[in-house]
Amino acid sequence: MKKILAAILSAAMVGSLVSCGSTKSSSNDAGKGKKTIGIAMPAQELERWNSDGEYLKNKFESAGYNVELKFSNNDAVKQNNDIVGMIDDGVDLLLIAAVEADTLSATLDSAVEKNIPVVAYDRLIRDSSAITYYVSYDNFEVGRLQGEFIRDALDLDNTAGPYNIEIVAGDSGDYNADRFFKGEMDVLEEYIESGKLVVPSGLKTFELVATPGWTSDNAKANMTKILNTYYSDGKQLDAVVCANDSTALGVIQALDESYKGSNTPVITGQDGDIANLKNIVDGTQAMTVYKNVENEVSTAYEVCKMILDGDIPTGALVQSFPFEARYDSESYNNGVKYVQSYLLVPAVITDTNLQLLVNTGQYKWDSSEKYLESAK
Ligand code: BGC
Repeated sequence: MKKILAAILSAAMVGSLVSCGSTKSSSNDAGKGKKTIGIAMPAQELERWNSDGEYLKNKFESAGYNVELKFSNNDAVKQNNDIVGMIDDGVDLLLIAAVEADTLSATLDSAVEKNIPVVAYDRLIRDSSAITYYVSYDNFEVGRLQGEFIRDALDLDNTAGPYNIEIVAGDSGDYNADRFFKGEMDVLEEYIESGKLVVPSGLKTFELVATPGWTSDNAKANMTKILNTYYSDGKQLDAVVCANDSTALGVIQALDESYKGSNTPVITGQDGDIANLKNIVDGTQAMTVYKNVENEVSTAYEVCKMILDGDIPTGALVQSFPFEARYDSESYNNGVKYVQSYLLVPAVITDTNLQLLVNTGQYKWDSSEKYLESAK
């Protein structure tokens, strides 16, 4: 499947290069000497990418850059074409959160030929030597926080169990999804092996628990099937380790409609999406791993700015950040090389510390002062 997609993508790229020629006729050439950043985000439908796109656009525009921002409906072929279009437009730098980790190499080679640097945003781009830097959160740590939360919520170290758990991962084309899963299993595997945690569905490998497109609908459909097949006799489900908020939303809907037990399973998430924060207040979701978008955007901005100014971003850059981050050139191998990475530190949010989100300035209490809403 991947090979077929890669072939379609290369063909699309060649077609575009042939039809558009290879001269750098650029929006920035035309645009009063301003440099142009080409930003490719996966999908506008998912709350997180919508806000990343908006924050990135504002950040670069208010610093005097032109921005070409594309959302690709979670469609790898569309994203490839969008990027080819931005290369043809002569953008000065590409900042990409990839739909598929490993299908962009041919297109990015053509960016390199035109001296357009490529920075991977949030998601690592694999099998490409074109990537100069990677800006993200520590994705393995995100998974560990979710695993640790379940370990502590079920008090696995001090109670006999066994407890029933199901695992819901992200899209298998997103390398982050694999990192989250590995982080979760880094904590939970020993309990699964000892039998204290039981997975009644038997679905334990990343491939078997992946959720296409990270969508709530797919997560709901998968969980409904699991509930109807393995829990229809009223078996108790104690926890579902969900990789992010969009999948948690689908799982909670499935539980609402098809779970026969009387307990509320411990559900994890990630992103601090508004609907999930409401569920946290209402008690149907236990936690979300929060990754401050503004900090990730600022990091990306500083890295891109240095590159465009002809400077070389190094580990020293993190010392200027007003938030915790680390420079790491040894953890993220994209199949071709170790990519120099700036990794930010995620935080656990529960119903006891929602005020931390308000303190970021990105959320505010609604009129009932019970739930959070976007401050934008
Ligand atoms: C991001 C998550 C997001 C997920 C689905 C991942 O690559 O790191 O924050 O929830 O994609 O969009």
